[in-house]
Amino acid sequence: MERILFSAICCLAGIAPLIISCNSGAVKEKENTSTASDKKWWKEAVVYQVYPRSFKDSDGDGIGDLKGIISKLDYIKSLGVDVVWLNPIYSSPNDDNGYDISDYRNIMKDFGSMQDFDTMLKGMHDRGIKLVMDLVVNHSSDEHEWFKQSRSSRTSPYRNYYHWWDAERGKPNSRYSLFDVNHDAWKYDSLTNAYYLHYFSRKQPDLNWENPQVRKEVHDIMKFWLDKGIDGFRMDAFQFVAKDTTFPAFPAGYEKDFIKYYGMVNPIHDYIKEIHKEVFSKYDMMSVAEGAGNSFEDAHNLVDADRNELDMAYAFDAVDLAKPEGYSVVKLKEIFTKWDSAFAAKGWLSIYLANHDQARLVSRFGNDTPEFRELSSKMLSTFLMTMRGTPYYYNGDELGMTNIRFDDIHDYKDVPTLNEYQHQLNIGGDMKKFMETLKFSCRDNGRTPFQWDGTANAGFTSGTPWIKVNGNYTLINAAAQDKDSNSCLNYFRKLTALRKQNLVLVYGKYSILDKDNPAVYAYTRELEGKKLLILLNFSSKPATVNTGIDISKAKSLLNNYSTATDAKQLRPYEAVIYELK
Ligand code: GLC
Repeated sequence: MERILFSAICCLAGIAPLIISCNSGAVKEKENTSTASDKKWWKEAVVYQVYPRSFKDSDGDGIGDLKGIISKLDYIKSLGVDVVWLNPIYSSPNDDNGYDISDYRNIMKDFGSMQDFDTMLKGMHDRGIKLVMDLVVNHSSDEHEWFKQSRSSRTSPYRNYYHWWDAERGKPNSRYSLFDVNHDAWKYDSLTNAYYLHYFSRKQPDLNWENPQVRKEVHDIMKFWLDKGIDGFRMDAFQFVAKDTTFPAFPAGYEKDFIKYYGMVNPIHDYIKEIHKEVFSKYDMMSVAEGAGNSFEDAHNLVDADRNELDMAYAFDAVDLAKPEGYSVVKLKEIFTKWDSAFAAKGWLSIYLANHDQARLVSRFGNDTPEFRELSSKMLSTFLMTMRGTPYYYNGDELGMTNIRFDDIHDYKDVPTLNEYQHQLNIGGDMKKFMETLKFSCRDNGRTPFQWDGTANAGFTSGTPWIKVNGNYTLINAAAQDKDSNSCLNYFRKLTALRKQNLVLVYGKYSILDKDNPAVYAYTRELEGKKLLILLNFSSKPATVNTGIDISKAKSLLNNYSTATDAKQLRPYEAVIYELK
């Protein structure tokens, strides 16, 4: 049990339990082209995720803010991205960095005002960039007025906005909490002698979606922001919103596989169809859910256009592969290939390997040693920008920012990390091992301030940053990379431009080559007579690749080395994109 919980937090440091394994139910590949005939702006977009707390501080309080983002809109534009996904900026006591919302129609004070928001949105739209906001409605903050009312008495009209279990019924059946210090999702509240449910922290009580008033509130919140002109929602922890409110007992050990029990519970599809009817169908927007259920069928049921539900979901099992000791490239290829073929004829995928719930891309999936950091970072960017699906790219990865690897627990700010530290202490866990694990996987590694330039605090703030700046900012920063034509940053810009110029990279059929090659990921993308070959060496050693394709007439469109490549023998972390003739 202890081992389970320990490994849970190791994952949890990167929120991996939200990552759904979809190994079952392979859907037979049909035509492999029909998605191409159904063109949409959000399929052709590159989504750039901005973590506002760490992006740019304008007022010296050490916390990034909207005015900071506004000052960097030209930078964002220069990346060639189309959509910004902004992590929550709503009023929040910040137990979980904004994922605990106390007012869904207001801006967090640290981040600025509604006027700043309007200016930011206009600035994005003026530059042709769309904005997707995070919608966190599996739970609210315990400081939301709804919860305050709900807590106050058993007869409050808001009581049923949340899940309460009166204590005279005895203790409810166990539910696992991801963030709680004891992993107990039921918190006893003496005020009304009852327990409330929180899948995440105690300050994040779960909303009761069975209550039509709650659903109506959510629809109205969505309309409020869409009427302001935003372009979509990323729906946080959405697969968990529906619950069996009789709270039956789960079999012993269920917490090892809790998503199977928590994810996609009936009648979640009714709830989403209702949102589609009431909200989505009335706007030109995109929607993407965190979590895609337990199978390809689950994922299809969420995103297939004829279902009238969502546009995309996160298919996350790949992101969970990275371990301190490394990962299997063959496995990574298998996962992406399975997902691609399951969605080749219907539905649409999200492509990503990092976000605010993960440590840094290059530190987890690449190699952040001085020798290979740039090469492997460029190679991973090449991968993300050449797969079929909408790429979600996390801010700072375009610079090849790396894990900070704190030694001291006090440097970490992340609520589940700190709670799990306490939990491990309580149960006599292996603290040394725990701290080592955090260095690899804790999501705070991905939340250190954006490295703008070589001045104090990487140009992020004139004050004291809310979390330490990575000391390598004098070497790794946007200003220096902007001037260097070979930098990760300029390489990323070339990739987004290439994707824009080559719709084959968006819609084209994907075919894997040399699939058992333990180091190289090779594939083609093909659309309407155009065919690209992508070769990626995922290792620090030279690697041979056997694609069986004659490339003597091929044109190299992009290469992360400055000298010509040998298509059969790739250099360490080499990435090359050919156009085949
Ligand atoms: C999602 C978010 C994560 C947050 C959690 C609780 O997984 O991505 O950052 O902590 O939900 O809202």
